[in-house]
Amino acid sequence: MNFEQAKSKMQKLVTPERYTHCLGVMEFAGELAEVYGLDAEKLRFAGLIHDCAKSLPDEECLKLMARFGGADETVMASRGLWHGPAGAEYAKEHFGIDDEIYDAIFYHTIGKENMSLFTQIIYLADVIEPNRDSEFDWAEELRELALHDIDGATLAALNNTITHVIERNMVMHTESIKLRNRILLNRRK
Ligand SMILES: [Fe+2]
Ligand SMILES: [Fe+2]
Repeated sequence: MNFEQAKSKMQKLVTPERYTHCLGVMEFAGELAEVYGLDAEKLRFAGLIHDCAKSLPDEECLKLMARFGGADETVMASRGLWHGPAGAEYAKEHFGIDDEIYDAIFYHTIGKENMSLFTQIIYLADVIEPNRDSEFDWAEELRELALHDIDGATLAALNNTITHVIERNMVMHTESIKLRNRILLNRRK
């Protein structure tokens, strides 16, 4: 599927606000890809479609997640996380993606300990893309940091997410904590 087809499909799948967010992730993921020497067009595509399952009804998300045997208990308990794994399955069927994009969409809501740079870029771009500014006033600072220290920016984004989750007494996914520990441990080497 080409970009134009994917764009018009995304416009039908998500709300206008969400679509604007997806365009922001697309742009910033492309920028990071160029800085870190990855395939910018492919990362732009992944950014564009990463939230394809965001507006799908519960039932459809559950059916999509059943295809790989169902998500773990923590994901199942947090409705906001479903569109990651469900979206990876949806994109596999409707956008003709490969394993690299599948992984990036699958883990964009929780992260994972040993994520590829490709998946990390989508994870981070999702949190700090420019259109998120109204929500996160520190996003601009993190975008600057991401251009020369992607792990540092990911760590700061994770700290913010984890704090937010704790403040609301929500369940914290262990992969997010493992990812945070991994970055901290690697930075000590
Ligand atoms: Fe998302
Ligand atoms: Fe997103």
